[in-house]
Amino acid sequence: MKYDPTHVASFYDAYGDQEWTRFDDGRTPRPSLEVHLEHLRRFIKPGDYVLDIGAGPGRFTIELARLGAAVTVADISAGQLALNEARLTAEGLEDRVVERAVADVLDLAQWEDGAFDVTVCFGGPLSYILDDAETAVAELVRVTRLGGTIVIEDQIAPVDPLAALEVDRFERARDPSHTRLLPDVDLRHLFEANGLVLETRRYRTERRTLDSYLELAGCTGEERERAAALSPGGREGYVAESSWYVLRR
Ligand SMILES: C[S@@+](CC[C@H](N)C(=O)[O-])C[C@H]1O[C@@H](n2cnc3c(N)ncnc32)[C@H](O)[C@@H]1O
Repeated sequence: MKYDPTHVASFYDAYGDQEWTRFDDGRTPRPSLEVHLEHLRRFIKPGDYVLDIGAGPGRFTIELARLGAAVTVADISAGQLALNEARLTAEGLEDRVVERAVADVLDLAQWEDGAFDVTVCFGGPLSYILDDAETAVAELVRVTRLGGTIVIEDQIAPVDPLAALEVDRFERARDPSHTRLLPDVDLRHLFEANGLVLETRRYRTERRTLDSYLELAGCTGEERERAAALSPGGREGYVAESSWYVLRR
């Protein structure tokens, strides 16, 4: 199956505010939120020009703004960008936003080379684009200044290829447009090929709530039963592996 940007955009347009609650209902466990925040607090300085790509409704845009960054907010979903604006406004932080733009991580041509001190890509855009991940990483690198920082968090495939097949089988049963997750080794090769220096890497295996995860993908009835039976970690929760990378350009 091929990456289809229109499908991803309309999925997230329809997903709406449910993206905001992923850290509250166990779809992504609470400690993971803390790890995301720690990374921003450690690597963002006041006045930094930051691109938040795949920003969604703004959980981390808000933190970037609080840290004093000048934030460019980008997402493939116009619906998520509207929610992002509402959240930042409600927090009284909209004045920290330089610009908000619809953009696919595969094509950041609207920004010049080296436009940002820091580029943040949290929550999975790299997982959606599969064989195009090479282009995505090259774009993240291009828009980040020399000596700047790229902070990435994504779900990764297990090292064991059979376990990776199992995860992909489950994900596909849940959402037929899923293709495959990339393993750590593939991501690292991409980083190296782009001349990036890995500064830190953090890794977590998490148990995520299964019911809301299936529900949100519209997976019901027999399909839901089939997906639940394939869940790595069993019916009581889906076990997923997340990885955070901080890279110096
Ligand atoms: C799981 S959400 C993460 C939102 C936020 N960064 C967070 O961590 O809470 C994924 C977001 O990435 C966006 N996205 C998915 N594919 C993308 C792509 N190819 N380019 C830009 N954004 C993308 C979605 O629209 C969605 O808002």
